[in-house]
Amino acid sequence: MAEHTAPLRIAVVGAGNVGATFAYALLMSRLATEIVLIDANFAKAEGEAMDLNHSVPLIHHARIWAGKYEDCAGAAVTVITAGSNQKPGETRLDLLQRNTSILRQIVESVVQHNPNGIILVATNPVDILTYAANKISGLPSQRVIGSGTILDTARFRYLLSEYFNVDARSVHAYIIGEHGDSEVPVWSLANIAGMELSEFCVANGVECHQADMEEIFHKTRDAAYQIIERKGATYYAVAAGLVRIVEAILRDQSTVLSVSSYIQDYSGINDICLSLPTVISRNGIERVLRLSLTPEETDGLKKSADLLKSTIEQLKL
Ligand SMILES: NC(=O)c1ccc[n+]([C@@H]2O[C@H](COP(=O)([O-])OP(=O)(O)OC[C@H]3O[C@@H](n4cnc5c(N)ncnc54)[C@H](O)[C@@H]3O)[C@@H](O)[C@H]2O)c1
Repeated sequence: MAEHTAPLRIAVVGAGNVGATFAYALLMSRLATEIVLIDANFAKAEGEAMDLNHSVPLIHHARIWAGKYEDCAGAAVTVITAGSNQKPGETRLDLLQRNTSILRQIVESVVQHNPNGIILVATNPVDILTYAANKISGLPSQRVIGSGTILDTARFRYLLSEYFNVDARSVHAYIIGEHGDSEVPVWSLANIAGMELSEFCVANGVECHQADMEEIFHKTRDAAYQIIERKGATYYAVAAGLVRIVEAILRDQSTVLSVSSYIQDYSGINDICLSLPTVISRNGIERVLRLSLTPEETDGLKKSADLLKSTIEQLKL
């Protein structure tokens, strides 16, 4: 008789560009046996579920359906990608207030039906909404994760890999802080084969110009604007990042990933969510790693935290 194993359910709230692409990437990853899509626009979730189901015979057996919040029950992870876009005449703060209200309704419903699961937030502004999800859910902060700079870190590694002509997976470098304009590249710890980038250049006879490094960071930070200008939204890389986080959780991998989480007592930074290299395992946030940053990098991180804090203070939570 075949061995019986409990289904592995992942819930996705928001079946838009990011949610649907994540569901597809998750199916391709073969990590989950149940994927439920929940969206205020039920027909959209239903259409995505139908389309995804038609790829099951070609990929991996999984149960995929358009559901309700009750279906979050038992989900190992609920991924929140639901959001609204800026309306004409609306300020960024108005939009934030509206997305926070949307998030409140979602998080309350998720926790009601699934008090033991992990919440993974991707909706922007992701650090602020991860903080809000922490406060609203009442869950241990270990179980509330924001995708944070996992995407920016991937973009950074990709661009560095192109410059140095090595596989992006062999470039070790992190973007920390806000997922947004105030994010910080950690140049001092970036390395290839254990060598700092300047050292790598000398040892391997590669030209390495400061101006090029700065351009790589600017391209990393501004990538979303560049992509949105061309195709209206970004979703493949963030979906891959979400799958990577879910994999680290489901497989209990203790993987170091730059994700957003609740930060206390970190270089004087308190009561905020932002990204730092973080160990992710079965229980969610295992621990946030302490980095030996340069004074300039620490300063950049604190500025990023201050910016996020001032936004949170304007929010009605
Ligand atoms: N964290 C990241 O790195 C990253 C990267 C890309 C996009 N994003 C963010 O992800 C979010 C989604 O982007 P998208 O391109 O998928 O948008 P989208 O408009 O394609 O999809 C959003 C979906 O949310 C649904 N929705 C709205 N309100 C809802 C509610 N109350 N309950 C349930 N569903 C609701 C909509 O019906 C829609 O299907 C945005 O906030 C975007 O900025 C984050």
